[in-house]
Amino acid sequence: MSTSRAFVFLVLYLSVVPGNTDDSGCTSQLSVEAGCEQCTDWGHCEQETVPVDPWMQYALKTQRELQIDFTFDQFIMLDSHNSFQARAYGLRYGANDTCVWPPPYPENCTSIANHEFTIVDQLNLGMRGIEIDNWYCYGAMRVCHLGTHEYLGVCEADHMLFADLLGDIGDWLDQPENQDEIIRLYFNEKEDQGHDDEVNAMIRDAFGTRVLTPSDLRDTYGGSWPTIRKMREDGKHVLIAAGGTYGFFTHGDVYIHPLYFDADLRTNLFTPYPDCSGRNDTNIVRVYSDSLNFPLNEKGYYSGEETVGSIKDLTEYVKCRIQYPTLDMINPDLIKTGVWTWAEGQPSGELSYDSCVMLKGTDHRWYVSSDCSENHYYACQHDNDHEVWTVSDEAGPYSTTGDVCPQGYSFSIPHNGYRKQKLIESSQDKDVWLNFSQWLPSGPVEPTDAKMTTDDSAAHRLIGTPGIVLALLSILLAL
Ligand SMILES: *[C@@H]1O[C@H](CO)[C@@H](O)[C@H](O)[C@H]1NC(C)=O
Ligand SMILES: *[C@@H]1O[C@H](CO)[C@@H](O)[C@H](O)[C@H]1NC(C)=O
Ligand SMILES: *[C@@H]1O[C@H](CO)[C@@H](O)[C@H](O)[C@H]1NC(C)=O
Ligand SMILES: *[C@@H]1O[C@H](CO)[C@@H](O)[C@H](O)[C@H]1NC(C)=O
Repeated sequence: MSTSRAFVFLVLYLSVVPGNTDDSGCTSQLSVEAGCEQCTDWGHCEQETVPVDPWMQYALKTQRELQIDFTFDQFIMLDSHNSFQARAYGLRYGANDTCVWPPPYPENCTSIANHEFTIVDQLNLGMRGIEIDNWYCYGAMRVCHLGTHEYLGVCEADHMLFADLLGDIGDWLDQPENQDEIIRLYFNEKEDQGHDDEVNAMIRDAFGTRVLTPSDLRDTYGGSWPTIRKMREDGKHVLIAAGGTYGFFTHGDVYIHPLYFDADLRTNLFTPYPDCSGRNDTNIVRVYSDSLNFPLNEKGYYSGEETVGSIKDLTEYVKCRIQYPTLDMINPDLIKTGVWTWAEGQPSGELSYDSCVMLKGTDHRWYVSSDCSENHYYACQHDNDHEVWTVSDEAGPYSTTGDVCPQGYSFSIPHNGYRKQKLIESSQDKDVWLNFSQWLPSGPVEPTDAKMTTDDSAAHRLIGTPGIVLALLSILLAL
């Protein structure tokens, strides 16, 4: 193909691939930055259209899979605060907002929304904790922030139906690529609103037997949280908890657990590693954001930033293994700060049984090594205290057999950001082999291994790839 024909091809291609141009109608900053191709009348990404970077999606999936043998209470998930209060849902939920993320905001802008994107988009972007304010009004359970707030909105007949939102989440879990996912819902009811049968029927319709119920916890698991692996084996993918300042409103204990967090902190009160606000090996900690900003009668503006604060970088939360870093205004750049495993662009190519993975001393990120016979130190985990890490005395080639670690330690891989931190502290910026064997395709352990190849959900979700890259690729193929 000649250069001019290639050029014509490029022009033709770009003209049929909708680009991020004016006709998208996206005017809101986070929607523009996310690269949405279709926006609402108010300039926010249309529901379920936010592009997802396949690399980020795969890295977050890796980080969840690594925790498969943790019990549910120790499972770290990205959490979304007031998930439903999102501009993409329309005027009732902040479509008319004027504040531009991130705070501190200039004086007198309005944000009654905690989010830009819908709950399904948030799930696609990697959130696994979803939090909802449900209020009964006009003959139905609806979704309304705080229910009776003079400015945020009193529950009205045009607020979304709770059943519809639960249905969206259930449909998302039904997608083939999400079958293994585990989510935690938090309903923030402030009083006993009754209508128990109605609420329980909504939950049943959305999730069926996938809810791990209070009686499952008591009778099947003897009162102790099961591991993520066990929950998957048993088909339990949803945990629902409710509660708050005024008590626990669990609609008869059929599906809903009383809130089980040990500590629930405002972002402004969070202390970074190594203090970590008292997070230890066993307690359950949520740290939440609030990015709202709106007029209060005679009191100027309410500033969520001053009162609560908002998480703008996840690095310290990851290092502290906070279970529920609870975000406002989730967006791809913010979520990216929660990746502690793969370097950008890694794993390059498809993982195979022979792949060897290392932690690079320079950036503390994971890479697939091109040469498994290179000599590196090995990541070693204490056999009894799993939070204690060291590296081998000597460097050697990657090996899946043999005693490469000191007495009392085994060749392993950090399962969360805290363990990685402990490994880094002892490795002193050396390159270190990681024992990734359990997660390699056709590796020793079922059933996670098949899920960890790059060719499943990560690779075929190319919606995030800019049109120009696709165009250039097709020119190369055409030539
Ligand atoms: C949008 O907000 C502005 C103030 O920021 C207000 O004047 C206007 O009435 C609002 N529009 C709607 C439809 O709520
Ligand atoms: C913000 O509101 C206050 C009081 O309502 C007013 O005095 C002030 O001028 C406003 N500031 C801006 C930047 O609009
Ligand atoms: C962990 O912290 C909690 C407080 O959140 C405390 O009650 C518990 O005793 C601590 N556990 C250990 C093992 O230090
Ligand atoms: C690597 O990890 C797997 C799975 O945890 C384990 O069975 C294996 O023994 C480890 N390899 C070495 C050399 O210790």
